[in-house]
Amino acid sequence: MTFSRRAFLGAAASSALLPRRLFAASGAKLKVGLLLPYSGTYAALGHNITDGMKLAASEHGGKLGGREIEWKAVDDESDPAKAPANVNKLIAGEKVDILTGPVHSGVAMAMMQIVRQENVLTIVTNAGAQAVTGTLCAPHVFRTSFSNWQVSYPCAEVMVKAGHKKAALMFWNYSFGQESMAAFKEGYSKAGGTVVKEIAVPFPSTEFQANLSEIAALKPDAVFVFFAGAGAAKFVKDYADAGLQQKVPLYGSGFLTEGVLAAQGGAADGIRTTLHYADALDNPANKKFREAFKKATGRDADVYAVAGYDAVNALAQALDKVKGDTGAQKELIAALEATRLDSPRGRFRFSKAHNPVQDIYLRQVKGGKEMVLGVAMKDADDPATGCKLGK
Ligand code: BEZ
Repeated sequence: MTFSRRAFLGAAASSALLPRRLFAASGAKLKVGLLLPYSGTYAALGHNITDGMKLAASEHGGKLGGREIEWKAVDDESDPAKAPANVNKLIAGEKVDILTGPVHSGVAMAMMQIVRQENVLTIVTNAGAQAVTGTLCAPHVFRTSFSNWQVSYPCAEVMVKAGHKKAALMFWNYSFGQESMAAFKEGYSKAGGTVVKEIAVPFPSTEFQANLSEIAALKPDAVFVFFAGAGAAKFVKDYADAGLQQKVPLYGSGFLTEGVLAAQGGAADGIRTTLHYADALDNPANKKFREAFKKATGRDADVYAVAGYDAVNALAQALDKVKGDTGAQKELIAALEATRLDSPRGRFRFSKAHNPVQDIYLRQVKGGKEMVLGVAMKDADDPATGCKLGK
């Protein structure tokens, strides 16, 4: 039998050799690593994921599988170049039992190389990079957020159905933006639309004006974009300031307005987006979650908080089944695969590739509020190209 370095360190460090029934009683804390941005343009996203996780943990009495949680957080700065060192801080340095995060797809790609080698149980709580549950998928890696394809592809048909057959695209030029546009273009050409211009903006630049003048001159039927966090707040205001709000309908994956509606004000009115969550979803789990999040943090919940909340709720179900024994990885993975959640987003389960199977909603901002217009894609299941899990 061979042990990976991680399995060996993990066993020694977290009493994984204890018999199952004694494990929770041993008092060994459950170390949960958070690899998230707490600074820069995605800082608010990192904080809401963290607070969503902590809210769920508090609803489970601060324990998962009978073990008290010890949080270990690292600011990943949304910087892929720093990701290997940051991941190692958590895995080799803190010896976390479970790794969670990140927000940025480039950080996720670097993280995947390490967690695949080290075999540490990983829950991706935002980054939508296709490879996480595609070519780089792994038995011990799960995602509670979305894939790029899920949130981008359905918007194409929505736009064509609304009569917008000539689109300009604008996006932050890193893996998520590139994949988002590829998924959108796949859907758009299938539906009969034509992309007339693609504008790539370096991440995390918010110098949008020159590009917006180009769009104004081009007069496409509509614009589809990817921006998120503080950059999305600035983009939407610049779009309105450029006089485009009333002239060229603006679409995107829902990150364009998530968590930044208040900052965008009237400039966001009319924007249509596709996403697996909306504030206004009328289900008991969402109502309870939004009230509890507001009470705990003083802030409104958003899609990022939901992914953190569901990650801990999924872990709670699975760790209960193995009585907190993270050393029983095979059983823990099987338990996670069997997870069923009444999530604030609606029903939640993992696909064979460990990505959520979920409804994608069509939303529109009206009077400063995100309204749900309907379901753009029911039970959206990412194609998981290149993943052999469960096959
Ligand atoms: C990403 O890089 O995967 C991402 C970042 C912010 C919002 C959504 C996706």
